[in-house]
Amino acid sequence: MQRTKVKDLLQGAEVGKEVLLKGWVRTKRGNKYVNFIAVNDGSTINNLQVVADEKFSEEALKDVTTGAAIAVVGQLVESQGKGQAYEVQATSIEVVGKADPETYPLQKKAHSLEFLREIAHLRFRTNTFGAVFRVRNTLAFAVHKFFNEKGFVYIHTPIITASDAEGAGEMFRVTTLDPINPPLTENGEVNYEEDFFGKATNLTVSGQLEGELAAMAFSDIYTFGPTFRAENSNTTRHLAEFWMIEPEMAFYDLKMNADLAEEFIKYIIRYALEHNREDIEFLGQRLAEEDKAKPQNERQEMTLLEKLEFVVNNDFERVTYTEAIDILVNSNHYKKKKFQYEVSWGVDLQSEHERYLVEKHFKKPVIVTNYPKDIKAFYMRLNDDGKTVAAMDILAPGIGEIVGGSQREERIDILVERMKGVGIHEEDLWWYLDTRRFGGCPHAGFGLGFERMVQFVTGMGNIRDVIPFPRTPQNAEF
Ligand code: 4AD
Ligand code: MG
Repeated sequence: MQRTKVKDLLQGAEVGKEVLLKGWVRTKRGNKYVNFIAVNDGSTINNLQVVADEKFSEEALKDVTTGAAIAVVGQLVESQGKGQAYEVQATSIEVVGKADPETYPLQKKAHSLEFLREIAHLRFRTNTFGAVFRVRNTLAFAVHKFFNEKGFVYIHTPIITASDAEGAGEMFRVTTLDPINPPLTENGEVNYEEDFFGKATNLTVSGQLEGELAAMAFSDIYTFGPTFRAENSNTTRHLAEFWMIEPEMAFYDLKMNADLAEEFIKYIIRYALEHNREDIEFLGQRLAEEDKAKPQNERQEMTLLEKLEFVVNNDFERVTYTEAIDILVNSNHYKKKKFQYEVSWGVDLQSEHERYLVEKHFKKPVIVTNYPKDIKAFYMRLNDDGKTVAAMDILAPGIGEIVGGSQREERIDILVERMKGVGIHEEDLWWYLDTRRFGGCPHAGFGLGFERMVQFVTGMGNIRDVIPFPRTPQNAEF
């Protein structure tokens, strides 16, 4: 007999027929005469109710406990009870894998997200994490669908690299040298020429530079892979290992880049709303519950669904960095000295500034463009004013920066100048500079932090709760 997934059974396709159902017990309740077993197999947030009547002795059901894996044969019938349309009238129940109720950590009661993080190997089995990771899966699929429909080529850029694409020096070293007794140069420094790759290498912080090379042949490409940053930030928005989507387009300017990013974000949100409605509704209720515990002025103005519908149906705001600084400096918030960090032309926007712009001032996603060149990466195209670069950050309510991107510097002399300014050697990036020498053209691209996107769509407050096994300072469990 073929197993049917709970999602399909709940749609009633096989009503009246004998079905085989496999999954994990969420709860069992009942008495001597009848027991109701809620079974979930991960295909949907909803459980399927299995009814075990007096045919089943107490002994036969003793191992049917929360967490156990079971296989049930029975008839799919319309349910008499409230709460579900269909249920399975069991004829046989096999316990495939027991879960000792004395030691199984997931009990019926609600567990805190912090506790569930410590048992991340089991948290997939909760309603919340089931919903989060189904939404994550859908978003990942939508990313590929969007770019595929537009004729972008998916490029796999290297994970081990010798270059620091962002020039921020936040890299994890990759080496096979003996950490206690490494080979040394005459100057007493570690001699990476003797290392596995014959040079010092790291885990990539971004696939952009290699992506640019491919865009100079395919016109439109994207990457979607893991990236690594050894920044010691213990925040709800930073991971040491996160997934990034980086499209790169030849013959694009900054405006076209921003248009694509906005269309892309709306597309994947819409796709999740269409394909994971129940999961998102559940997560929305979760948030609403959480909100009730907060003081009135900290509560959300919109429900999760309303927020997502709003983002999909409205234009993002667009301002330059200079305009953003003006807004901040003229705000009451600033006048009342409520910003912790300095605000003036030239400083990088801190998360408190970004949140003010997005959540208090515009109340919608904002694309900030043309930042001062000194606070942005070397590859961004210098504007005619000589002070700013053609950069863009997209800021989202509740998240802050979700996208970072720019038009790239295609003029080799200016690019080399900027590299010198930040201490990057021409020899190390000879291949990157070659694309400016041979058939170079204006081009642009951006990077979307996938986990921040998943946070936005699921409403989860901590980035550790939207990636199965988070990597953060002092933590690499599982
Ligand atoms: O702004 P970033 O550093 O830009 C780049 O890496 C460019 N190479 C992108 C490009 O133009 N192709 O990072 C891009 C995005 C950020 O906006 C943020 O969403 C996410 O990546 N991000 C992180 N997400 C989680 N944890 C971290 N430590 C992150 N650092 C950046
Ligand atoms: Mg950035």
